[in-house]
Amino acid sequence: MKDLHLVKNPLALHKLSLLRKKETPPSEFQRIMTEVSYFLCVKATENLLLEEKEIETPLVKTKAPFLKELSPVLIPILRAGNGFLEAFRTLLPNSPVGFIGLYREEKAKTIVEYYKKLPEKMEKRRVFLLDPMLATGKSAVAAVDLLKKEKPLEIIFVNLLASREGLSYFHEKHPDVPVVTLSVDPKLDEKAYIVPGLGDAGDRIFGTTP
Ligand code: URA
Repeated sequence: MKDLHLVKNPLALHKLSLLRKKETPPSEFQRIMTEVSYFLCVKATENLLLEEKEIETPLVKTKAPFLKELSPVLIPILRAGNGFLEAFRTLLPNSPVGFIGLYREEKAKTIVEYYKKLPEKMEKRRVFLLDPMLATGKSAVAAVDLLKKEKPLEIIFVNLLASREGLSYFHEKHPDVPVVTLSVDPKLDEKAYIVPGLGDAGDRIFGTTP
């Protein structure tokens, strides 16, 4: 599959299994999601460019690598994308953060944008688009359509779980956008939930189901 970057670290996969378990309560869910997000952030930042600069350690002058580019912009898709923010903002403290809110209009089966607040001047930055669940792929595609208008250096889609179907739809529409994820699950159910999945990520994070 094109431009798919799977996190294969055993500890990250163990933590994903904890997220899948229905007994995991919201307080633990968010904590574990933050832990897993560090692994995703490490993977997503693997291609950031470095430049050598001269520094002085307490012992000698030397050259050391520093990030050459501006920090990537972080864009969570509301609401579940917010679950990635703590870890990403810890590792990338200078990253501007924008938000995109989308919902699915059931009758027309279209994606409607209800909120958009993007940082100014994204041309010189990469964008990490954050959404834990890539189910049908429709909202991820709509979010990338919208972000491409800002002409960022690159868009990288960061995800916990993708469905096989959603991933192939996403790749078909945006073959230039790498996807970083932990697992590609085999199916969607009739309500477009990922199976086996982990349920509604927003509800699991924010405790909005009983
Ligand atoms: N969104 C979710 O939160 N979970 C799914 O399984 C699919 C979409």
